[in-house]
Amino acid sequence: MLNNFKQSRDQSEIKLFQTDRVWSVIRQQVFDLVDQAHARGQAQNSHLTHELESALAKHFNRAYCITTACATDALDIAVQSLQLEPNSKIAVPNYTFTATAHAIARSGNRPVAVDVLDNYCINAAAVPETKAIVSVDLFGNMCDYQALYSKNIPLIVDAAQSLESVGLDGVASANHGLLSCISFSPSKTISSWGSGGAVLTDNAELAQRCRLLRLHGKQANKNMAMAPGLNSMMSSFECAAVLVGLEYSKKWQARRQQIADFLRRESAHTAAVDNLVQHTLSKLVFQSNNRSAVVNRLNQLNVETAVHYNLLINDEHIYRNDQDFLNSIKLQSTSFTVPNQHTLTDNEVEIIAKGLK
Ligand SMILES: Cc1ncc(COP(=O)(O)O)c(C=O)c1O
Repeated sequence: MLNNFKQSRDQSEIKLFQTDRVWSVIRQQVFDLVDQAHARGQAQNSHLTHELESALAKHFNRAYCITTACATDALDIAVQSLQLEPNSKIAVPNYTFTATAHAIARSGNRPVAVDVLDNYCINAAAVPETKAIVSVDLFGNMCDYQALYSKNIPLIVDAAQSLESVGLDGVASANHGLLSCISFSPSKTISSWGSGGAVLTDNAELAQRCRLLRLHGKQANKNMAMAPGLNSMMSSFECAAVLVGLEYSKKWQARRQQIADFLRRESAHTAAVDNLVQHTLSKLVFQSNNRSAVVNRLNQLNVETAVHYNLLINDEHIYRNDQDFLNSIKLQSTSFTVPNQHTLTDNEVEIIAKGLK
């Protein structure tokens, strides 16, 4: 009896992620594409990998693209490619997914959490003396790049949540920084239906280091390793899924924009969505001083919600420092995420709007 009740509730729930609906649209194209590589016995490093790397480099106007098993690896490799002194301090926004800081730590360096501005992006004015910055264009918002560039230290952009974001100057999020890193995890706007990521750069030397670091630190098994590299490859299946997803990227973004515009108009609460030429809207995050009441109301209407993020970088005991995090703490206690996937029906969007009034 209980199980039946749960089943019917789940079916009517308006979910934050609706990957089942996406799959039904792209599945045949993905199967057809991956079949070409599998028929040649190429599970990895196939023509699909090269096609994807060329497509991404072209799309983001970058000279080089190196795909990786995930964005966490992409960030780790990008930081390693800078060849900083071991244990160098690297600034990172306090408000981000833990992976950003983990990648810095894994690369043998020290993440230094820095407070964010109202758009959840790093406050360049608060960046202390560090050897590099890993900035994050969180929820698809974009950093103040002029302020970051004026620091004159290497900048790596974590563009895991900003694949479709383009600033008012026409420059895409992933086109910023010495290196930028993107993600194709299932929670992102374009999913590999597994895991996946990439490093993008215009610098030939850094690109070559990243390529080696991605696979055991060497070009071929017979070569000497330049460093203890990773084994960080996307499968042919994952490349195929991303190649197909990219074909739909503009259409899906346009629907997310339509949904976000409607929900923001109808809502009594504010959402910190930057004014950009194009916004990824990877997550639609509202703020309320009375968050639990709003979330309860949404949940009563069977709308799934989440808090991105319950734990900030400075909350992790391994990364704690004594900087001020006033803005991060305010945002942490007021923010909540509602569904905004392109697959929502108009009826579902209206129910979410009702909960946000
Ligand atoms: C801001 C940010 N950085 C890095 C990552 C790590 O991406 P991946 O899951 O591809 O390793 C994520 C994933 O959620 C993210 O949101």
